[in-house]
Amino acid sequence: MGGVLRRNDAISQAMSDATFWDERYRSADAIWSGDPNPQLVAEISALVPGTALDVGCGEGADTLWLAERGWHVTGIDISVVALERAHKAAVTAGVIERVVWQQADITTAPPPELTYDLVSAQFIHLAPALRDAAFRGLAAAVKPGGTLLVVGHHPSDLETTVRRPRMPGVLYTAADIAALLAANEWDIVTGAARPRSATDSESRAVTVHDAVLRARRR
Ligand SMILES: C[S@@+](CC[C@H](N)C(=O)[O-])C[C@H]1O[C@@H](n2cnc3c(N)ncnc32)[C@H](O)[C@@H]1O
Repeated sequence: MGGVLRRNDAISQAMSDATFWDERYRSADAIWSGDPNPQLVAEISALVPGTALDVGCGEGADTLWLAERGWHVTGIDISVVALERAHKAAVTAGVIERVVWQQADITTAPPPELTYDLVSAQFIHLAPALRDAAFRGLAAAVKPGGTLLVVGHHPSDLETTVRRPRMPGVLYTAADIAALLAANEWDIVTGAARPRSATDSESRAVTVHDAVLRARRR
């Protein structure tokens, strides 16, 4: 049992490793759909654009969607392969003047404090030992009056046939993230497990759930 836990911990640690992600991105011309994440669109469409940090921006679909709506966006990712793709997509979309890219590991280099009107982290799943400090660092980067949006795979997805990291503690609920925020500094706007249609590796229709935590800093 202890051996299994140690192996799981090593795997989940690797999920936050630049080599792991560079290899994952090199394995295909495109890993993600190119569409913005639905919970970003649902939660952020009505906000007045300002400065945004897209954490783990990957191939840049969310960064582009925000920039197209007038946000000035910093896209951070641990993978330079992903960032090169995101940059090409932003040039093609004609929004490069509103985008800055940064290669960074949020577990060792938190973003600057009190800097962004919006910090969005979509499907960042870190080893539990790293996650709480990293997400507190993301929250600290939000300006007063600004928004933190964290979206992740809900632990109930492990009861479906869809492919998910099977390590204990890597998936999270909105309440897990809300618990990292000082109650006297944040108002919770959305705390939800939102259903979404997906397909598993055998093309079967599956209902999965996104954990959605949106909070506004006082
Ligand atoms: C599951 S993908 C999600 C990509 C994108 N947010 C989306 O929803 O399509 C996770 C992304 O986070 C990046 N990532 C993983 N660990 C990271 C870390 N410690 N610091 C910065 N980025 C990280 C990966 O390179 C990858 O692009």
